[in-house]
Amino acid sequence: MFLVLVFFVTPAFCDYVGSEKCKVCHERQYENFIKYSRMSRSFEAVEKMKNKITPDELKTCFQCHTTGYGKKGGFISAEKTPHLKDTGCEVCHGPGKRHVESKNPLHIRRKFTLQICEPCHTEERIRAFRFKPLLYGGAH
Ligand code: HEC
Ligand code: HEC
Ligand code: HEC
Ligand code: HEC
Repeated sequence: MFLVLVFFVTPAFCDYVGSEKCKVCHERQYENFIKYSRMSRSFEAVEKMKNKITPDELKTCFQCHTTGYGKKGGFISAEKTPHLKDTGCEVCHGPGKRHVESKNPLHIRRKFTLQICEPCHTEERIRAFRFKPLLYGGAH
């Protein structure tokens, strides 16, 4: 019961901050990610389709091509949350607000399993695109 209460009075800790915020302290990971990972530009694909599909269809793309769509403090729209447009650091490392404020490594995800990738890199996609990301191959 106590834990549940704590969760509700501190929801801000779940918030997403966007990759740019990580840059000051993790410049090497940031630069590598922006330069070499297509995940850091995943919204371009959505933007290209904007005029070809309905707004409702477009929303189905957000779930996998943005950061935190449908989650607290996550992507809402390109206008309201431009810093969360692409699939950024927090897609893998989890919401970063608490860690950014505390600088505590325990406040950010550091251990990974493929389950983190699967909501977006689904079985269906892996078959269709013949592409399965390797756990340590897609980051920085
Ligand atoms: C104000 C500085 C600061 C910001 C901003 C920051 N971090 Fe950190 N981060 C640290 C410090 C300090 C550590 C602990 C020392 C270390 O391992 O480099 C750390 C550790 C980490 C670790 C664990 C490293 C390890 O070796 O175990 C990860 C992962 C991480 N940060 C990711 C992020 C992400 C993702 C963001 C953006 C959402 C971010 N950090 C923003 C300061 C920061
Ligand atoms: C929120 C959805 C999402 C999650 C979670 C996710 N990815 Fe991705 N990933 C994408 C999208 C979207 C692309 C395609 C980007 C493009 O080409 O526009 C992609 C592309 C990739 C690529 C292709 C090339 C590149 O440089 O970006 C690799 C590798 C990859 N992801 C690895 C991973 C790994 C490993 C994990 C889990 C630790 C993961 N991804 C989790 C959405 C996600
Ligand atoms: C279930 C998650 C998911 C959904 C929903 C999704 N995508 Fe993707 N998309 C991905 C992943 C993951 C990749 C990386 C390629 C792969 O799967 O092998 C990708 C790749 C792409 C690419 C190729 C990018 C490149 O750089 O070549 C385009 C274009 C694209 N998606 C457009 C869209 C559009 C438009 C929508 C909405 C109608 C959409 N996607 C919905 C997960 C998704
Ligand atoms: C596709 C998933 C993914 C994305 C996106 C991602 N990371 Fe990571 N990150 C990882 C993995 C996997 C590790 C290695 C963890 C381990 O060593 O067990 C890692 C490790 C780290 C570490 C620890 C030191 C190191 O280099 O091993 C830091 C710091 C870090 N990431 C920061 C970031 C920042 C900042 C961003 C965005 C600019 C980012 N990450 C984006 C998956 C990701």
